[in-house]
Amino acid sequence: MARRRQLYEGKAKILFEGPEPGTLVQYFKDDATALNGEKKGIITGKGVLNNRISEYLMLRLAEIGVPTHFVRRLNMREQLIREVEIIPIEVVVRNVAAGSISKRLGIAEGTRLPRSIIEYYYKNDALGDPMVAEEHITAFGWAAPPDMDDMVALTLRINDFLTGLFLGVGITLVDFKIEFGRLWENEDMRIVLADEISPDNCRLWDSKTNEKMDKDRFRRDMGRVEEAYQEVAKRLGILPEAGMRDMKGPETIQ
Ligand code: TMP
Repeated sequence: MARRRQLYEGKAKILFEGPEPGTLVQYFKDDATALNGEKKGIITGKGVLNNRISEYLMLRLAEIGVPTHFVRRLNMREQLIREVEIIPIEVVVRNVAAGSISKRLGIAEGTRLPRSIIEYYYKNDALGDPMVAEEHITAFGWAAPPDMDDMVALTLRINDFLTGLFLGVGITLVDFKIEFGRLWENEDMRIVLADEISPDNCRLWDSKTNEKMDKDRFRRDMGRVEEAYQEVAKRLGILPEAGMRDMKGPETIQ
């Protein structure tokens, strides 16, 4: 089959032209980066797992009425998505202190926050994705006030739903990053959830032991990174059986 035209290559994914106008193919790589691209590595099988985990979470969210860009999974590493105009803001939600909020404000990692906190970061690699306020976003026209209202309302629903979903499988959703896009249908525009939701952009801790089951294992050289991603998929009940062959990692034979 002729290779589709590549439109964009990011740190963890590649976007190809889709089979129909208004669609794209999102390919999940095993490449991992941290510290704004300074630390690079490969997490074997990550692309397969993130494709599957993101599919699962986007489908569950769609069931409760959260609009997303997801159409369907095509194969082990690719999914069909609707083409959207990405809003250049990373929306981070925090339930428990960890990572940059702990560092910046001196709050011990693991402290449960009095309420969920939403933060915004301007997507700009050259500037290192600086944190911004809603004022900057609307003043510079990255998103209009009604877009912000939709993003906040969706973000709170996503957080509540995913917190419960993960808690049900013994995982604390500490924090996560999501992105939104504008989906145009004729003259109408809707804000929809885009990008991916996976252990690359969530902090997931075992709810009994607080063991980290996410990309912090890579960022902090903790080891057993592949196993952590697999464990998340396993607990969600979606470990791809055939996918294990495509992961090219050592297999545990029981
Ligand atoms: P932080 O504590 O480093 O600000 O990260 C908060 C959450 O957002 C964490 O789950 C990781 C995720 N995140 C991304 O997905 N991409 C990014 O570029 C950053 C900085 C964080």
